[in-house]
Amino acid sequence: MNASPLSPAQPQAPAQQAAAAQGATLYGGVTNRRVTVRDLAAAKQRGERWSMLTAYDALTAGVFDEAGIPVLLVGDSAGNCHLGYETTVPVTMDQMVMLSAAVVRGTKRAMVVGDMPFGSYQESPAQAMHNAARLMKEAGVGAVKLEGGERSARSIELLVEAGIPVMAHIGLTPQSVHALGGYPVQGRGDEAAHQLLRDAKAVQQAGAFSVVLEAVPAELAAQVTEQLSVPTVGIGAGAGTDAQVLVWTDMAGMTAGRVPKFVKQYADLRSVLGGAARAFAADVADGSFPAAEHSFS
Ligand code: KIV
Repeated sequence: MNASPLSPAQPQAPAQQAAAAQGATLYGGVTNRRVTVRDLAAAKQRGERWSMLTAYDALTAGVFDEAGIPVLLVGDSAGNCHLGYETTVPVTMDQMVMLSAAVVRGTKRAMVVGDMPFGSYQESPAQAMHNAARLMKEAGVGAVKLEGGERSARSIELLVEAGIPVMAHIGLTPQSVHALGGYPVQGRGDEAAHQLLRDAKAVQQAGAFSVVLEAVPAELAAQVTEQLSVPTVGIGAGAGTDAQVLVWTDMAGMTAGRVPKFVKQYADLRSVLGGAARAFAADVADGSFPAAEHSFS
């Protein structure tokens, strides 16, 4: 009997065990080249679950690359997590090119996916092509991501025909925050669930190599995952997707205030960094820094 896609910690399939023995897994593998779309397709075939984190600078990206994270997303979440905006809407192409280039420079193995910001692809497939080419040529990313299901299929098709790997993003699409009136869970109710399935199939049909499912009920995300041949990447979509993505500042405890319910915080970097800054300032104030060992004679 097949294990439910929602059951935790499943035993490894033989194909996954063989990949592990050859050092060919996405996580823990030892290849000295970048992860490619073929590696992600092979991982889906053998049932390997993989992780993706966002990154917005070379230093942090280098840490995640050394940790073996196979895919790094230069998300337009940079808007609210890195650049101080309230939403992703104000983020520009120039900013995404600059941040993506830094992440590419800071990494050796991870596939770097550059996000297409609001207004950079919705106008026409030709506009999408122009701006995706900028991310490939100027930043050196290995793939691009854009939001939308059926509505973005024509653009995805054109990019894929031109040789640009595309990660699609459906469910909650944060660039539509003003139209959605916030960040509500998507796909609830029969009609919305059917639309999500149609969106998933449309982007796969258009050639997307993977699909982000954001803020959708776990059962529905598992159903979409079973029906697609390309990997799904969940965020707030339960345990039944092929991969999981988190925004790094949420995952590492850098975000101020509340984080969404779907976030698991693996560290408390905000208090670690704040503590270091306070200790430095106190040492300067009481004259204990710099000490002799920090000074030249
Ligand atoms: O911009 C981003 O970080 C994203 C992820 C949340 C998937 O789109």
